[in-house]
Amino acid sequence: MIVFQQLIKRYTCGAAVVVMLFAIGANTARAADITISCGSVGQDFEMCKKMTDEWAAKTGNKVTLFTSPNSTTDILALFRQQFGAKSSEIDVLMVDVVWPGVIKQHLLNLTPYAKGIEKSHFPAIVANNTVDGKLLAMPWFSDAGLLYYRKDLLEKYHEKVPATWEEMTATARKIQDGERKAGNPEMYGYVFQGKAYEGLTCNALEWVSSYKGGSIIEADGKISVDNPQAAKALDMAASWVGKISPKGVLSFGEEEARGVFQNGNSAFMRNWPYAWSLAQKGDSKVKDKVGVAALPKGGADGQSSATLGGWQLAVSKYSKHPAEAADLVLYLTSKEVQKRRAVEGSYNPTIPELYKDSDVLKAAPFMGALYDVFIHAVARPATVTGEKYNEVSAAFWNTAYATLSGKSKGVDSVKKLGQDLAHIRHGDKW
Ligand code: GLC
Repeated sequence: MIVFQQLIKRYTCGAAVVVMLFAIGANTARAADITISCGSVGQDFEMCKKMTDEWAAKTGNKVTLFTSPNSTTDILALFRQQFGAKSSEIDVLMVDVVWPGVIKQHLLNLTPYAKGIEKSHFPAIVANNTVDGKLLAMPWFSDAGLLYYRKDLLEKYHEKVPATWEEMTATARKIQDGERKAGNPEMYGYVFQGKAYEGLTCNALEWVSSYKGGSIIEADGKISVDNPQAAKALDMAASWVGKISPKGVLSFGEEEARGVFQNGNSAFMRNWPYAWSLAQKGDSKVKDKVGVAALPKGGADGQSSATLGGWQLAVSKYSKHPAEAADLVLYLTSKEVQKRRAVEGSYNPTIPELYKDSDVLKAAPFMGALYDVFIHAVARPATVTGEKYNEVSAAFWNTAYATLSGKSKGVDSVKKLGQDLAHIRHGDKW
């Protein structure tokens, strides 16, 4: 009997060990090492690390963060190299809202993985990310250009939030002069993104659209930029450089502009929503002194225009772990994670329901107050130009750059751009 009982025990233990070994074996076989490229602007990297670590702990997979450059133009160039080599190095990619048409052949169709959850996101973003009926990327966060201003300085100089670019220019000048006299030689009126890259395309589209000069190329494919309002808008921006904006603004991206503003050295700044939570942090010199408004109108007859930006998460077609990579994408774009990113990092959610969430609205009040700005933001002509978008945008930012740096007057700039774009279009179709 005792022998029998010992035999049973031994057998049971043996079975347990076999089951355990099998389980470990299966787990090891399933565990994947996923590499994700998720940005390096502001808190991008740090927040991505935190949330991907959580997913890794939950699923038993490993996540490695790929350090990307912070200019979207440089990231695209790098991804194109990787795609050219069909490299499986990066599994999950952060995709700019203007790229789906440009890199569509390298992205996995997420439709079978998303299982309809994309319906809880803004339909316009889902449509933007759907090419030839395939959902190529899940919306992660949305962006729109905003005007940041110093509440304390407007009060000190008895000025109000500017409604037009002309008012902004005058108020910026007044504050800059006053603060310099009061002992801050570093003070400027306005900082923005003036470097020759995609960020300048976003700023310049806002200027042009605010003067009712169209959106470079219209939805029907017509090249519209060669018009007097567009020329006027570019000339106005050129008048800031070296006056209310530092000359160095010609090499500013988002982070350089934020650096100057957050150090207390500019009255106004054009930037995306992420800059809010950083301006409000303990180490910020402008904590509690900042307001956020819609960008100014182009003259009294103009309109306030914000360029639509934002990022998606996609899986590379060359990934060796598509299922795990898609799972990570769905986790990071989920309502729970988007809410935390909105509260902790002021990243605008892509899920309309979160704009009614009291925690989100408390942490980033502008998301509620400026909801219309986000909903009516102006799209860059990416859908209509498809694969040619980057070439089109480069022609536009180079034109804007030449005008800002005084090499060309607005009227000549838009004329030449119209010709260059027609050349890129090559015939009637984009
Ligand atoms: C922001 C926007 C993106 C845009 C980029 C330009 O990251 O979300 O859409 O292309 O800025 O710098």
